[in-house]
Amino acid sequence: MSEEPFQLAVLIGSVRKGRFGPTVADWFVGRAEQRGDMKVDVVDLLHTEIPSADFTSRVGATDAFVVVTPEYNHGYPGELKLAIDSVNREWHAKPVGFVSYGGLSGGLRSVEQLRAVFAELHTVTVRETVSFHNSRVNFDEKGDPRDPEAVNAAAGVLLDQLAWWAHALREARAARPYGT
Ligand SMILES: Cc1cc2nc3c(=O)[nH]c(=O)nc-3n(C[C@H](O)[C@H](O)[C@H](O)COP(=O)(O)O)c2cc1C
Repeated sequence: MSEEPFQLAVLIGSVRKGRFGPTVADWFVGRAEQRGDMKVDVVDLLHTEIPSADFTSRVGATDAFVVVTPEYNHGYPGELKLAIDSVNREWHAKPVGFVSYGGLSGGLRSVEQLRAVFAELHTVTVRETVSFHNSRVNFDEKGDPRDPEAVNAAAGVLLDQLAWWAHALREARAARPYGT
């Protein structure tokens, strides 16, 4: 069955000077774009006004999200929380996946906190996560993962799960309004 590609937004949650986030995001966007079943919009919070009508309408026009997040002191970036909280209904009944990175924990504590936040916004968070511990040493100077096999496989599973939900929920939203 051929289906209309769905719209994926990849949110870059880190805005710090000297940040590593875009390297991780670029790799993931490459994995998503090679599939052909989704159109990818990169939302870099460093270059996005929050709150703004533009951000709200970009979230509204999106079928599925992947949040690329680091971990700072066992939490996710404050700017990411501001962005999430600046929008409400536009998140509803849509899937969210996570790609995390950090030191030893690989950003997984940020992901678990974000799952609780996104539940409040009526999203579905997908189980599979891609995480990079000690991220700077696990990418080479070209910006590619040094051990691509495992992370490419994890990204594939994450995108498969996200695609299933994106199609299912897009059909469901078209069939009847999501009631809250
Ligand atoms: C203020 C600060 C706090 C950090 N706290 C953690 C932490 O609690 N756990 C962890 O695994 N890594 C931690 N790190 C490492 C970062 O996750 C890592 O440097 C990552 O590259 C940060 O993302 P960014 O470069 O895109 O900003 C911290 C880094 C900074 C700057």
